[in-house]
Amino acid sequence: ATAPEIHRGLAGVVVDTTEISTVIQETNSLTYRGYPVQDLAARRSFEEVAHLLWYGELPDEGQLRAFRARERALRPLDRTTWELLARLPETCHPMDVLRTAVSFFGAEDPTEDDGSLAAHRAKSLTLLAKLPTVVAADQRRRRGLDPIPPDPGLGYAENFFHMCFGSVPAPEVVRCFEISLTLYAEHSFNASTFTARVVTSTLSDLYSAVTAAIGALKGPLHGGANEAVMHMLLEIGDPQRAQAWLDEALASKRKIMGFGHRVYKHGDSRVPIMQDALDRLVARAADPEVTRLATLHAALRDAVLHRKGIHPNLDYPAGLAYHLMGFDIPAFTPIFVLSRITGWTAHITEQLAHNALIRPLASYGGPGQRAVPGAA
Ligand code: CMC
Repeated sequence: ATAPEIHRGLAGVVVDTTEISTVIQETNSLTYRGYPVQDLAARRSFEEVAHLLWYGELPDEGQLRAFRARERALRPLDRTTWELLARLPETCHPMDVLRTAVSFFGAEDPTEDDGSLAAHRAKSLTLLAKLPTVVAADQRRRRGLDPIPPDPGLGYAENFFHMCFGSVPAPEVVRCFEISLTLYAEHSFNASTFTARVVTSTLSDLYSAVTAAIGALKGPLHGGANEAVMHMLLEIGDPQRAQAWLDEALASKRKIMGFGHRVYKHGDSRVPIMQDALDRLVARAADPEVTRLATLHAALRDAVLHRKGIHPNLDYPAGLAYHLMGFDIPAFTPIFVLSRITGWTAHITEQLAHNALIRPLASYGGPGQRAVPGAA
């Protein structure tokens, strides 16, 4: 028999169809339900994008009003969740807190095993509404501060700033944040979404799928890269050191965080929009320290492109943007979750609508059959 063809990392393998998003290779553009993501980022709120991903269409005015009202009403956490969060050690990563919170929401939900579409939509909206409350409270706890309750008068992005800092920054800053949420929301069969689909394919519940997806997103080759980018920039420290640091990192075979992509080989289509948003934040700050970081950011980008021909991915501008917005580095990947929860749950629903158990094969390379010592 001929040896089977191996597709390590499932690279290049098409495992199913989806109607949620795609990267159009010819134009290097990402579309959600057919709409170019840069136009959605420029013209629509994150809530409208969430509605689009879940229901397939942008909401009309009445639908948006109802969607917003439901999301805002679901934001508060109950007492048992607060007690659970308070018991987690502050030494654990905030992604562990978020993963535990989702698992707990599942354990508490009496409808956990109701796999109906209506139940899925209700659970998805509940997670979208409650996860920002968890992330904001966790950041404040680590700063030694009391949590700030959600404000139902504020939009999704504004409310997150309010719960983190007790104030809402200038509208341009909120817009930059909202743009990042729209860009992070969905990206087809990426590792965490595929993880959610694998779990769902066994007919397990939505909370289990999202808990697993959070685990997959945490790693630095995926969502964890936005935090790693900021650690790397702080490690380099000075624009003058970018080239020498890169030479050393490449010589020791280090992966440069925030660069490269499995799907995009000529540049991540989301980067120009996020870079524009970042440039606006830098210009607004008018602070020499911020300018220095931005100069270093650009110098490293140019050096990697020149030396390796590798382009930055979305995490490269997003990492620095979140730093400039005032978030602590360990909150960056949790913020990614606040956005990608929309894509994950859209895929969970789609997987269930035409389910096939995901169960690939492996080519065995271990010892041939042999006798257990002592066995007849
Ligand atoms: N730094 C140094 N070399 C790289 C990088 C990088 N960031 N990315 C790719 N390469 C090299 C890689 O070493 C390989 O070289 P060679 O053929 O000589 O061995 C070649 O480019 C092809 O890379 P690959 O690792 O085979 O490509 P992949 O599709 O398996 O990996 C990736 C994609 C994202 C895991 C990888 O580019 C990487 O590790 N990047 C750094 C982590 C990162 O930024 N992740 C975020 C991904 S995008 C958004 C998200 O999911 O959050």
